[in-house]
Amino acid sequence: MKAIVLVGGEGTRLRPLTYGIPKPMVPVLNYPFLEHTIAYLKKYRIKEAVLATSYLSEAIQGYFGQLTGLGVKLIYAVEDKPLGTAGAVKNAEQHLSDTFIAFNGDIFTDLNLTKMLAFHRAKAAKVTIALTRVENPSAYGVVETESDGRVRRFIEKPSPELVSRDQVTTNWINAGIYIIEPEVLGYVPDNTHYMFESGLFPLLLQLGEPLYALKFDSGYWLDMGTPRKYLQLNCDLLLSKARSALLGTFGKDEVRYGERCTVHPSAQIIGPVIIGSNCKIGQDVCIKGPVAINSDCSLAEGVTLETAVLWQGVAIGKNAVLRHTVVGKDTTISANATLLHSAVAGSDIQALN
Ligand code: GTP
Repeated sequence: MKAIVLVGGEGTRLRPLTYGIPKPMVPVLNYPFLEHTIAYLKKYRIKEAVLATSYLSEAIQGYFGQLTGLGVKLIYAVEDKPLGTAGAVKNAEQHLSDTFIAFNGDIFTDLNLTKMLAFHRAKAAKVTIALTRVENPSAYGVVETESDGRVRRFIEKPSPELVSRDQVTTNWINAGIYIIEPEVLGYVPDNTHYMFESGLFPLLLQLGEPLYALKFDSGYWLDMGTPRKYLQLNCDLLLSKARSALLGTFGKDEVRYGERCTVHPSAQIIGPVIIGSNCKIGQDVCIKGPVAINSDCSLAEGVTLETAVLWQGVAIGKNAVLRHTVVGKDTTISANATLLHSAVAGSDIQALN
């Protein structure tokens, strides 16, 4: 089976991190997020994946075009202007002649695709939607089903009032993973912005087409589209709450170093921590995991770093304190700055909060 991964969105919720880099390329434990997704698809023996790109497409093609040994053949379907989730798949229709998987490119999951395909076939569905359960469904697309899994109703981003008035009877939400029969693309207009969630799926429901949903009760699922969720994903992987098909799991308190790092003997590093190559950790630095530090970073004397992600080339000045913070590429943090619960990217960040 082929997969199509939707990676064309602008990632506005992840700004400022996504001003210069598309969301699929943001580093997760120092590898582009999309590389973890491709490793996951490979695990399910998917041999070919279409990447539906638009925003900063060249950054994605530039990186993956040079990678060897990925194990999945990549095809690019580039949109001149974003066509929406269903429109993007329609744009790649020529590559999708058989049953295929469509994947929102900002989902990290380990859900069982083999089980999902077996369900799809058993129901003779035209589309099967993976569902995951969340505590508060207000920010998501809620899907109500019959007892056999057939979709009964969609409620897109229900207001908290609707949820509290019990008008929403379930907290199962669309997980952004679909198995699709290619003939349904006949309902999607050509070269037009069109969405699965608000367009194609409600239409199929209205037409009485076999539209099913499968509830995944266990396993990991996260939409990493906001800075808070992005930081959480890195931490969950380091703490082994989630597992990457690319990197495997981390040992408790493990500290993993890249090549050519220099660490001052007085520095205290408590895992789980991953440090990329060419990093300099100065005197009396205190790093308390979960922390991911990308290559070419420097931490000056007395820096405290706790629950944080640093992208490549970050320089942190003396005695700065960073907790629950993501710092974008080549950013300089001034000496004595304090950053708490922040996502920053820029040339010279002095202090926030
Ligand atoms: P926000 O601006 O923060 O909402 O991010 P987004 O638009 O990148 O993501 P959203 O959650 O809205 O979309 C879910 C997935 O679909 C993401 O992986 C997007 O990259 C992808 N996506 C959304 N719109 C398009 C589009 O027009 N074309 C393509 N190819 N992918 C899209």
